[in-house]
Amino acid sequence: MYQWEIGDDQLRKLEEWKKLPTLYQLALDELKNKIKLIQTEWKILNGYSPIEHIKTRIKEPKSILDKLERKGLEMTVDNMVNKIHDIAGMRIVFSFVKDIYKLLDHLRHRDDLTIIEIKDYIAKPKPNGYQSLHVIVAVPLTLFEGQRWMKVEIQMRTLAMDFWASMEHILFYKYDKQVPPHVVQELTEAAKAADALDKKMHGLRREIMGAAEASLP
Ligand code: GTP
Ligand code: MG
Repeated sequence: MYQWEIGDDQLRKLEEWKKLPTLYQLALDELKNKIKLIQTEWKILNGYSPIEHIKTRIKEPKSILDKLERKGLEMTVDNMVNKIHDIAGMRIVFSFVKDIYKLLDHLRHRDDLTIIEIKDYIAKPKPNGYQSLHVIVAVPLTLFEGQRWMKVEIQMRTLAMDFWASMEHILFYKYDKQVPPHVVQELTEAAKAADALDKKMHGLRREIMGAAEASLP
């Protein structure tokens, strides 16, 4: 029979590792509730919902370990919590670009979450044409042990950007990350078309909003 020698410190880390997925899931639930409340209020104020849908996911343990390795970091619970910001992920898909920035502005002013980092791939798309606004936030959880801030990566994009990103993702894996040049070229053109569609929709948003624009949250 094996005799396991496990110290107090290792036991504490093991307990921490065990409860991490639950904590991240709770953070996602809390955040989703906040967004739903904003969405409801927005609808009452402006007569339409800015958000098409919301998706959440917890990163698989294998992907977390792969990412630590890629970053040249030791596989410890501390590194996972402190160095990997997208263990909990939320994607919010909007109809209009402008509403993404309205929501960002609103999030900046809330005191029940903290913005840690913003990457604006809408203002500055990736070379392949990828567009999205990535925001890392920390959400507080009130636990018996005290308050604990959990990080969540929020990706905000329009329906057109989401459609493009889904296709690109499929092709990226179909070609095992070596997308042939002519496909890259087509994707870049498709990204331009998606951008043009968003710009057209911007005009339609004005029609929907009319004078109510000033009252947006
Ligand atoms: P890692 O988080 O270490 O991957 O690097 P990073 O923080 O620099 O990544 P970034 O914030 O730029 O992107 C993180 C996530 O955005 C990815 O996991 C994807 O979900 C999405 N993403 C980024 N670039 C692309 C892209 O070119 N195509 C698609 N489809 N998704 C992308
Ligand atoms: Mg990232």
